[in-house]
Amino acid sequence: MMRMIKRLFLMLIASMLFLCACGETERKVAEDNLVVIGMSQVGAESDWRVANSESMKEAFSEKNGYRLLFDDARQKQENQFTSIRRFIQQRVDYIVVMPISEDGWESVLEEARDAGIPVIVVDRRVNVGDGSLVTAHVGADFYAEGTSAVKWIEKNYANRDRVNIVHIRGTMGSTAQIGRTGALTAAFRNHTNWNLIKEMDGDFTQAKTYEVMRDYLESSSVKPVIDVVYCENDNEAFGAIDALEEAGYKCGDGGVAVISFDATHDGLVACRDGKIALEVECNPLLGPLAESVVRTMEEGGVPEKNQNVEESIFLPEDITDELLESRGY
Ligand code: AHR
Repeated sequence: MMRMIKRLFLMLIASMLFLCACGETERKVAEDNLVVIGMSQVGAESDWRVANSESMKEAFSEKNGYRLLFDDARQKQENQFTSIRRFIQQRVDYIVVMPISEDGWESVLEEARDAGIPVIVVDRRVNVGDGSLVTAHVGADFYAEGTSAVKWIEKNYANRDRVNIVHIRGTMGSTAQIGRTGALTAAFRNHTNWNLIKEMDGDFTQAKTYEVMRDYLESSSVKPVIDVVYCENDNEAFGAIDALEEAGYKCGDGGVAVISFDATHDGLVACRDGKIALEVECNPLLGPLAESVVRTMEEGGVPEKNQNVEESIFLPEDITDELLESRGY
């Protein structure tokens, strides 16, 4: 009998402790009245990405009413899955994810939905059959960006019998790569004089692009004639320019036309200096838009399902000191 009473007493204490612990988490959130955001970022592979992280952190700051749990996935989708599962356990209010690549998200997003946590996808997209797994998406139209670049090539190489193009792809399977590559691939079908002399993976990084471009140029028995290098972001452009110049190519007027995406500060400077022929903007300052999705929901509204940011293109002659100073990245 005594043993049973003791066991019941211990069970009572244990459940009281458990209830206190739960109450503690809830009370903490309620006390400071902050909305808890679990955020999974791709990594820090590019200048664009760094600016994007800063924008997200600023938008979801304490002064704006948020407690941000920020996780850097170091370019690995597996790490994103792990952090999202942790956010679910922590019972965050919202999950914000900048996905590395489009595929493979079903299971983890189903888990978030089952836990009743809205998921906001920022920048790239996820490819899921069930659209209800994503509450809203905020980002760019990457195919439209690629189309802007293609139009520039069409205009500037209109009367050429042959246009030799090197293509450096971004992270394979990411929306940015799929869109920008897609626009170029479609253009090849319409221009029989466009000649794809080499296609390589730069993974959106300067180091990898420098390496693959250097290896390609070093391994060619005859120095390739290159008209255009289509890089899928600024860091790839920087790596390509370094390797091209080392191999004796001139980038810019009368030489190789390097095309780039992002239009970050350093990309625009390289464009103003004539080394990048065209900058197609990709705006990383997505924090305010993503935050407005959460705010709408906090106020009981329904956010727009898809929001694309406005973007433009820049040519060397467009880039003034005032323009450089006016931009936030
Ligand atoms: O998804 C956006 C792309 O990812 C940017 O163009 C690139 O710089 C980044 O790493």
